[in-house]
Amino acid sequence: MRFELVPAEGPILDEILTATFDVWHEGLSRRAYDRYYTAQLATPWGRSALRRWALVDAGAVLASAKVYQFSGVLDGQSIRIAGLGAVFTQPAHRGRGYARGLVDRILERAAADGADLALLFSEIGPDYYARLEFSVIPRSDLTLTVVESDRRGAPATLVRAGEDRDVNDLVAMGQVRSAPYRLHLHRDRDLVKFAIAKKRLLAGLGAPGARQAQFFIAEEGASAVAYVLISARASTWTIEEAGDRDPSGARLGAILQALIARDPAERRPAIDGWLPGDFSPPQVHIVERRSSAETMMIRPLTARGTPASALSEHEVLFWNGDVF
Ligand SMILES: CC(C)(COP(=O)(O)OP(=O)(O)OC[C@H]1O[C@@H](n2cnc3c(N)ncnc32)[C@H](O)[C@@H]1OP(=O)(O)O)[C@@H](O)C(=O)NCCC(=O)NCCS
Repeated sequence: MRFELVPAEGPILDEILTATFDVWHEGLSRRAYDRYYTAQLATPWGRSALRRWALVDAGAVLASAKVYQFSGVLDGQSIRIAGLGAVFTQPAHRGRGYARGLVDRILERAAADGADLALLFSEIGPDYYARLEFSVIPRSDLTLTVVESDRRGAPATLVRAGEDRDVNDLVAMGQVRSAPYRLHLHRDRDLVKFAIAKKRLLAGLGAPGARQAQFFIAEEGASAVAYVLISARASTWTIEEAGDRDPSGARLGAILQALIARDPAERRPAIDGWLPGDFSPPQVHIVERRSSAETMMIRPLTARGTPASALSEHEVLFWNGDVF
């Protein structure tokens, strides 16, 4: 293909944001949609690991996509992951192989830069990306309920809003929790802060009260021993990520009980999200498990990025809030 792959900046970025707004605005105004993206790029993790590329022909944008540069672990080895998001062909140029050309070019470049594995979450089912050599990793969305405390009030756990000083504890909990899984991200301080910032930005840039980002921790001896990041929208809570030093997850369950007990008169929230297979707080029940709305798919780029055998749902740890 003779077309050029260029970083999406300036007027090219404007053209892409104008065209993609209808599909991905998430309830934001046009101005807020632009700021949501540029503010993510301005975070320490975004600056170094988030890029948007455009396939252009004589200055005209044909197609574009975001690339997230993660590090991770596959079958016990450190790998570099190219996360592909927001694949989009300008409406006037569809059906001419531009998305395929863009993905191929981006992945060639990513592989040359050391990426071992390409990862994406398809909003259009698996067929299109299967033709681009991606294969599905099964994944479920969960609906959860929280058993309310017998004491009809907050359990005796010190729960407070999470702060920057808690991030190291979150990282340490994440490392222990993810270690047994065959595929997971390496979530360092910057990535954890990016994940929290992203949810706060979406809430802050939206219509007043439309969404909230709730970040709470359970504290013991001045450190965070469990935490949860929730996106709340109307009466639905989505668990974006969570952690607990206690393998059983009992303190996460206690945080959720405390949050629900804050306002006993309020209707109970519907809770959805995702939890790793071995993370089942006794206070939390899974009431429904269904195939994820977004299909998780991978394409190995090197031998190191090739799973030793097909990955099952329970061998992968990937938080909802990290889905891109
Ligand atoms: C999906 C999309 C990127 C494809 O772009 P494109 O440049 O037209 O793609 P290509 O020319 O490489 O491939 C065209 C093929 O994709 C198929 N296709 C397009 N949209 C599809 C969809 N939603 N589901 C499955 N296949 C789809 C077309 O039917 C066509 O099939 P054909 O080759 O058998 O005729 C484009 O339709 C788009 O931007 N859609 C809106 C944004 C979106 O949904 N992006 C995907 C996010 S995961």
